[in-house]
Amino acid sequence: MNRYWSRKAKEITAYVPGEQPKDRRYIKLNTNENPYPPSPRVIAAIKAATNDTLRLYPDPTCDELRATIAGYYQLNKDQVFIGNGSDELLAFAFPAFFEPAGNPVLFAEVTYSFYPVYAAFFNINCRLVPVDGEFNIDEEGYYQDNGGIIIANPNAPTGKGVSRKMIEKVLERNKGNVVIVDEAYIDFGGESSVPLVGNYPNLLIIKTLSKSRSLAGLRVGYALGNAGLIEGMIRIKDSINSYTVDRLALAGAIEAIRDNAYFQETKTKIIQTRKRVTAKLTKIGFNVIPSQANFIFVSSNKCPGKVLFEKLRAKGILVRYFNKPGIDNFIRVSIGTDEEMNSFLDAVAAALLEV
Ligand SMILES: Cc1ncc(COP(=O)(O)O)c(C=O)c1O
Repeated sequence: MNRYWSRKAKEITAYVPGEQPKDRRYIKLNTNENPYPPSPRVIAAIKAATNDTLRLYPDPTCDELRATIAGYYQLNKDQVFIGNGSDELLAFAFPAFFEPAGNPVLFAEVTYSFYPVYAAFFNINCRLVPVDGEFNIDEEGYYQDNGGIIIANPNAPTGKGVSRKMIEKVLERNKGNVVIVDEAYIDFGGESSVPLVGNYPNLLIIKTLSKSRSLAGLRVGYALGNAGLIEGMIRIKDSINSYTVDRLALAGAIEAIRDNAYFQETKTKIIQTRKRVTAKLTKIGFNVIPSQANFIFVSSNKCPGKVLFEKLRAKGILVRYFNKPGIDNFIRVSIGTDEEMNSFLDAVAAALLEV
């Protein structure tokens, strides 16, 4: 605490990102990064963009990347917004569409832990929608009076997806409010709501290149929605920082979207590895929540989540543990390469022998 801090700086509870350790080499399965490198075409494009044009500001409207993404999804350029990672898109969307001290914004009781941080930061009320023992979301919970909705699909940290039909029902019943669908993990087996964009002016979909395109370090995300919503996002961005996405990120992101073959290949490998690891863990008695993401949420009745997390860490394997009621017996494990996951499975077996 510092005496010069504003009341806001004093009072906020900031989000705590997963560890990026520097003390030793770990098999890093804690922040849902992609274990495969970005497409070689992305690296080449970033290298080619590393030239004397860096003295110039980047394009504040990110036109070429927007057009590339619009082409990929068969949308118009004015239905696409680019941000510095999807966290920044969320940070713009909260003040763009939700009213401070107004009707509560709804999100699931168990979901991405950044949502309540943004709500508190922007003084936006929120109400949690319950999940059942298997982390299924109560659809009817989204039918109550609200000031907006945010749904992670698939959800984090559980990996559970919901159908497009369910999202459509929520949109139908909430035509007066914005429904944000955070599709950070959709490419690993979820059912995307992009086909609904043209029909629902209240739908904003948020996506990222951090997970399925192996570019967490580049910081690029995008939002898809009605042109009116996108304009709202632009108004907020241009009131904070006109240039949130730099020249190298723009060059790399364009090539990442273009190299569809590489994307298909790496995401398919991750899905296959997830299936294999899920089957193995289930066989040794783990409760594995069925996942449509690049991670699995698992618990064992032989070893508490916290103990397992610590034992794996001591063996050089980093996973994510959330010390929160309802999920504190689970660990979340990002899907790595087959080799990394074999080391993880060996470490789990060794850890269980110790308890
Ligand atoms: C559900 C969800 N949304 C958004 C993000 C943010 O991703 P990024 O800012 O890297 O695009 C994450 C990252 O872990 C996430 O889990």
